[in-house]
Amino acid sequence: MQRSGADALTAANSLQALMGIDIHSFVPEPPLGSRSTYSGLTGPAIKPLTLRTIAEICRSVSIPVLGTGGASSWHDAVEFMSVGARCVQFCTLVMHHGFRVIDDLRSGMSQYLDEMGFSSPLDIVGKALPHIAVHDDLPRRHVRSVIDESRCIGCEVCYVACRDGGHGAIDRRENRIPFVNPERCVGCGLCPLVCPEGCIALSEIS
Ligand SMILES: Cc1cc2nc3c(=O)[nH]c(=O)nc-3n(C[C@H](O)[C@H](O)[C@H](O)COP(=O)(O)O)c2cc1C
Repeated sequence: MQRSGADALTAANSLQALMGIDIHSFVPEPPLGSRSTYSGLTGPAIKPLTLRTIAEICRSVSIPVLGTGGASSWHDAVEFMSVGARCVQFCTLVMHHGFRVIDDLRSGMSQYLDEMGFSSPLDIVGKALPHIAVHDDLPRRHVRSVIDESRCIGCEVCYVACRDGGHGAIDRRENRIPFVNPERCVGCGLCPLVCPEGCIALSEIS
């Protein structure tokens, strides 16, 4: 796009989706008579995809990029800008709450800039990009899960996740408090993700 002469880019609008199927009539949602079509999926569901798209584009062009797709707060705007967007568009948010929500966005952003000592929102642009690595460069082989047993409630969610979806590296004591077998743990990050108490962390090993 830049080579073709574009002055700026928007990344990345809505994503084509099929919102659901009525399992009795087999007509997709939302129905118009007995038919429907693909819809543009917007809002918070697509935020992670937009973040990645903005990051990828901003790493390969030097023209300004406007981020849109899934931003619902000033916090999301900061995230979009940190991966390279110079401007953020809100559509679904305004449809839900009206233009008055812009005041909330402005005051939240303003407070954040003060707290961080930034003089302009542009100071945020691209700040996260140097922290995005390719997968193989991450120190996965050097991290292991560590369970804070004092906060564990023995729900066994981590045990089941690791047994059935991970590497079988978590075992249980008689009191149901789990422990990690460091020989089997590969630092995949599944157990911290599923722990409802937030008492598992990845820790670097020497
Ligand atoms: C009801 C609706 C209509 C839209 N119409 C258009 C349109 O005509 N042209 C366009 O480029 N984007 C259109 N969009 C996409 C928005 O401009 C925006 O890129 C998208 O909704 C993602 O941002 P959001 O997650 O903040 O909603 C529309 C979005 C919605 C929800």
